[in-house]
Amino acid sequence: MPADAGSNRRPETGAFFQRDRSWHPPALTPDYKTSVLRSPQKALLAFDNTASEITGPVFGHAILGELDDDLIHNFAKPGESAIGERIIVYGRVLDERGVGVSGALLEFWQANAGGRYRHKKDGYLAPLDPNFGGCGRTITDADGGYAFRTVKPGPYPWPNGPNDWRPSHIHFSVFGHGFAQRLVTQMYFEGDPLIWRCPIVRGIRDKAAVETLIAALDMQATIPFDARAYKFDIVLRGRRASLFENRPEGN
Ligand SMILES: [Fe+2]
Repeated sequence: MPADAGSNRRPETGAFFQRDRSWHPPALTPDYKTSVLRSPQKALLAFDNTASEITGPVFGHAILGELDDDLIHNFAKPGESAIGERIIVYGRVLDERGVGVSGALLEFWQANAGGRYRHKKDGYLAPLDPNFGGCGRTITDADGGYAFRTVKPGPYPWPNGPNDWRPSHIHFSVFGHGFAQRLVTQMYFEGDPLIWRCPIVRGIRDKAAVETLIAALDMQATIPFDARAYKFDIVLRGRRASLFENRPEGN
């Protein structure tokens, strides 16, 4: 018999917590112009997770290249390095209970120090840095910890309003233990005045939710005369709690 039989507790059937849609930005945010055509026109339907969404994909360190977590050098010629403010970005990937998620694949991409992407559609007049590619990846350790080295990306203008600028940011894609734990987000830098002026950031209704995307300058983790450090923890949806049993099943 189910442990909660007889209660009026709503049955839970999914393998992961449902996302809190009041925490995430609404899909339709007209001041962020491209959201008008990208947002769904009909109400969303929720389906239970399938086995393939819950159990994989699983990534291992074998897929990583030696310099994948070092954007200062992973595109640079031998003996050279990317131009810009050298930084370390580090933190932990956590589930909704604050437990570290080990073995999560983090991919990150960003503009160079001048605010330009190495992408054929980026026509911003800032120069490309021949020693900077702008993307990398790493896998979290046993406690969910991660770190990578890069240069601080510059802000850049974008064709939204007449004078909209993106704050300095790094894009993240995270795969936890299941496909349904994928999270795509952006990290901002403490103290940047452009954060609160950005139409994309302003699409997030809750100020506290925005603050979870702002990495804190951590002077304790800097490398003197080399790099400053920014700390960015990422919270994924977590596995649902097991129902509490006062004795193990079968005893
Ligand atoms: Fe960007």
